[in-house]
Amino acid sequence: MLKIGVLASGRGSNFQALIDSLESGKINAEIGLLIVDNQNAYAIERAKKHSIEYLYIDPSNYPTKNEYYTEVANQFKKRDVELVVLAGFMRVVKKPLIDAYPNKIMNIHPALLPSFPGLHGQKDAVDYGVRISGCTVHFIDEGIDSGPIIIQAAVPVSFEDNEEILSQRILELEHKIYPEAVKLYSEGRLKIEGRRVRVLNFKLPDERIINPQIV
Ligand code: GRF
Repeated sequence: MLKIGVLASGRGSNFQALIDSLESGKINAEIGLLIVDNQNAYAIERAKKHSIEYLYIDPSNYPTKNEYYTEVANQFKKRDVELVVLAGFMRVVKKPLIDAYPNKIMNIHPALLPSFPGLHGQKDAVDYGVRISGCTVHFIDEGIDSGPIIIQAAVPVSFEDNEEILSQRILELEHKIYPEAVKLYSEGRLKIEGRRVRVLNFKLPDERIINPQIV
């Protein structure tokens, strides 16, 4: 069974969506370890509630980012983690972890990449005045929100929306497409070709995760 490691910094609602999909049997995988970089992360409470092992690894204890990510990679490897899922992890992952898990680290970003990368995807979309935004699950590379895209989902944006309202609308879809991406991975159905990801046995429209109001 696929063993997943999760990295989180805060609330952990995507972590929870993943837990729910695993517990309901939708995904055949298990979470081997949660690592947080913030001792007050609510994700810890979720791990405790579901008897998932967790570790707080404090970045300030490591002289360099590379040393921090070497330790993170070691802890995942120790538990035979095969896929790393970033669930609201508010740092840019560095080479030692990427090299330990090549094309095996996923992230979710609250915008339709490559638009609005970075820390404020929802606010940037509102400020820009786009009519459609959404979320993107992608593999990570060394850039910021720049790796191969796995799934995207779209939501409408109205003039009255603000960052908070749009964030909530996007979050509901995040909780659907992130577990879906992990499920596809667990079934061996994601194949990276250059910077594109082929989804094997992909059938429209059943598995299409685009808001039908938009397309
Ligand atoms: C989500 O909006 C995610 O897209 C972004 O950070 C937020 C994390 O939320 N990367 P949560 O911690 O999963 O609730």
